[in-house]
Amino acid sequence: MTYKEQLDYSRIPQHIAIIMDGNGRWAKNKGKRRGEGHIAGASALHDTMMNASKLGVKYVTVYAFSTENWTRPDEEVNGLMALLFEKLDLGIFMDNDIRFCVIGDTDRLPEKVRERMNKCIDLSANNKRGTLTVALSYSSKWEITRAAKCIALKVQQGELDVNAITDQTIDEHLCTSFMPDPDLLIRTGGETRMSNYLLWQCAYTELYFCDTYWPDFDEEALCKAIYTFQQRERRFGKTSEQVAEENDNK
Ligand code: FPP
Repeated sequence: MTYKEQLDYSRIPQHIAIIMDGNGRWAKNKGKRRGEGHIAGASALHDTMMNASKLGVKYVTVYAFSTENWTRPDEEVNGLMALLFEKLDLGIFMDNDIRFCVIGDTDRLPEKVRERMNKCIDLSANNKRGTLTVALSYSSKWEITRAAKCIALKVQQGELDVNAITDQTIDEHLCTSFMPDPDLLIRTGGETRMSNYLLWQCAYTELYFCDTYWPDFDEEALCKAIYTFQQRERRFGKTSEQVAEENDNK
């Protein structure tokens, strides 16, 4: 039986975050340039967004370009920016009722990418079927530092009482304030680290690592990740007995 056939459709994760790793190695294995790996990666992203949406996943948040990725060779950075510009297709979002969002330090992106990106964000804002968020020029440490500065300024200006700061205050000052925390984080490409991605938001997220290079991540690979997620017990710090009792009372 396939993983797709084994899924419990009443327990599909609401939000999946993805670290799309392995484009470069995928290309190298095929004797291609790294840029061709990113082109294949963009195609895998399109397919994954469609597959996730069909399965009922409401939010998909992908790590496309980290703050640290600016230090890659100019040729690769410019190629990624050009690819982003080319692939930002409003029609795909409108035809599929997908809302497009971006998180990150977008002021650093080339102007023409920002313009096209903002157009997609604005015009898809009322789409309801799902939300694709792309993390661009993003890192958790950048995001948390920015939130801390903003909160400190509000305290300094008397708009916020320091004793009123809770974890919800932090949530509200992060770029991700409009989305629920991820239920499942998938990292492809064989590495088992978070790489400065959604560190605050993944406090209770189930982590799933697979060796598949991102361009090869297909529908069955996605279903395997979701199936694995469904075999886990999420306790959020409680005991198994408490969780079972809560489920009985639902
Ligand atoms: C990591 O693989 C991947 C990236 C740094 C870029 C991811 C970008 C895409 C999938 C294209 C996105 C396109 C759009 C339209 C958002 P790597 O290069 O680090 O691979 P490696 O670890 O094998 O070298």
